[in-house]
Amino acid sequence: MIYAANFKTNHTRQSTREYLGKLQAKLLLELNPNDKIYIFPPLTALDEYSSSDFTVGVQNAYPVEKGAFTGEVGLEQLAEFNINTILIGHSERRDILGESQEQIAKKFAFFKEQGFKIIYCIGESLEIREQGIESVMEHLISQFDGIDTTYENFMVAYEPIWAIGTGRTASVEEITQTHNELKKVVDRPLLYGGSVKGANIAQISAIENVNGVLVGGASLNPESFLELVLH
Ligand code: PGA
Repeated sequence: MIYAANFKTNHTRQSTREYLGKLQAKLLLELNPNDKIYIFPPLTALDEYSSSDFTVGVQNAYPVEKGAFTGEVGLEQLAEFNINTILIGHSERRDILGESQEQIAKKFAFFKEQGFKIIYCIGESLEIREQGIESVMEHLISQFDGIDTTYENFMVAYEPIWAIGTGRTASVEEITQTHNELKKVVDRPLLYGGSVKGANIAQISAIENVNGVLVGGASLNPESFLELVLH
C-alpha cells in the first residue's frame, strides 16, 4: 500500500521536523517493506530530511526552471532540497486557485520531462456523482485531457470532492466501482482520497483496485497517520 500525507497549508518547518522524527522512529521498526510513504508538507517546511522510510514531495510548484514568476517556486528551488515528487491536479488547486486543465497538463508535461514522480489527482463534485457513474467517469476521463497516461512514474489519486475534508467518505461500493472503471482507462497505481481515517482504512485498503490512500486531515498528526499506516 501507498500512504501519502497531504499537509495542505498546515504545519511549519519546526513542526514538520518533529512530525517526521516521530514517524521515522516508529517506521524504522514497524513499516511493512511493501508499503511506501509520501509526505507533502508546505513549501516553507522543506529541509534536509533524509530517510529510506518515507519520501518528501511538494504539493505544488511552477513548471519552470527559474525566472520571473512572482510568488512561485520552480525546479531550481526544489532541487536544493532534492525534491522529485509532486502532487498535481488537486481539487483545491483546480477549484480554489483556479488551475485549468490546460495549466495542469502543462505542469504534468514539465515535471514528467524532469522525471518526477507525480501523484495526479482527479475527482468529481457531488452534483456529478448524483448523476451516476457514467457522468462521473466522463468527468474523470476529461481530467486526463493532455496528460500522458503512459508515463511510468505516475500514480492517480481519485478524490471525490464531496468527500474531501467533509468526514463523508465514499462508500466501498462507490470506490470499488470507480476504481475498477479507472483501471480500464489508466493502468497505474490508484490511490483513494477523501476523509480516510483510522476508522475506515481497513475497509478501504481491502478494496482490490485501491493501491494506496491520499490523506489530508487524518495525516496532520503523526499518531493518527501512523494509525493508518500500521493498521
Ligand atoms: P481529507 O483530504 O483526508 O482531509 O479528506 C484529502 C485530500 O484532500 O487529499
